Amino acid sequence: MLSISVEEFLIWKKNLLSKGGDQQSFAFLLDCIGGISPSDQNLISINFKGNLHLKKNLVFLESIWDHHLHKSCPIQYLCGITFWRDLKLNITNKVLIPRPETELIVDIVFNIFRKKSEKLFFAELGTGSGAISIALSLAYPFSDGVATDIDQDALEIATKNYTNFSKQSNLKFYCGNWWSPLESFKGKLDLAISNPPYIPKDTYEKLPKEVKNFEPKVALLGGEDGLKHIREIIQKAPLFLKEKGWLILENHFDQSEKVKQLLIKNKFTSIEIVKDLSGIGRFTIGRYK
Ligand SMILES: C[S@@+](CC[C@H](N)C(=O)[O-])C[C@H]1O[C@@H](n2cnc3c(N)ncnc32)[C@H](O)[C@@H]1O
Repeated sequence: MLSISVEEFLIWKKNLLSKGGDQQSFAFLLDCIGGISPSDQNLISINFKGNLHLKKNLVFLESIWDHHLHKSCPIQYLCGITFWRDLKLNITNKVLIPRPETELIVDIVFNIFRKKSEKLFFAELGTGSGAISIALSLAYPFSDGVATDIDQDALEIATKNYTNFSKQSNLKFYCGNWWSPLESFKGKLDLAISNPPYIPKDTYEKLPKEVKNFEPKVALLGGEDGLKHIREIIQKAPLFLKEKGWLILENHFDQSEKVKQLLIKNKFTSIEIVKDLSGIGRFTIGRYK
């Protein structure tokens, strides 16, 4: 731990923020690399004449901040960490930074399967950092989960995140294209969830550089119309779900109606479009017959 005066720290902070960037990213850096929690950050200026303790020196923190500003690299990748629901997850640029709006998927599951003691068998397709599957495995300790991804590097990160949180082994990871690694679970799933790549090609090309230059293309691009992967997932879902099993999909802001039609075409019932906190139809859910 390095000790510096609060006065020196506040001058340094003002100087760094004057270069650009937002308070939230700066607070994230101080928390994850500097070792000053958000609540301690709030208290710093009260103790103006005191000292504070940092895990890394100011030069090191400043080099990360400069990199963030000059390259537009997301601060989460530079720190190797992100927060999602109540999880602190390790991440690299091999996985998408899990988004706050995706947190609602877990609440949708809580609304459907109300008893946490339920012996749920769920699959997550395209797990990335493992965020959704880990949250579900922890919330339903008697569940069994299987999570897939096409990217082996992503699965290694997800596995590491899971073992950081759980001593159990109720979540297993498989590499492969959507349903293909799950052949032996046909007809057995109570629930399948996916936040697949759904950005249409044109939109992908115009994404902000902090997304396009850093987040994996395989996690974002959903083909010409954005629905390529959603179509494949829906078409094969009936083979893997139990009768009355649920499928929960995240989609782009304007895709819900089309996803709904795909579910109808594939004989799903109880179809519902669920809005995110901004009122956008972000999730489309249904049951197989
Ligand atoms: C939008 S990201 C979602 C990641 C994570 N579930 C989340 O919500 O933060 C989509 C994920 O699907 C994976 N993926 C892309 N194409 C795939 C495919 N054909 N089969 C399986 N996974 C795929 C990507 O590697 C990526 O991790």
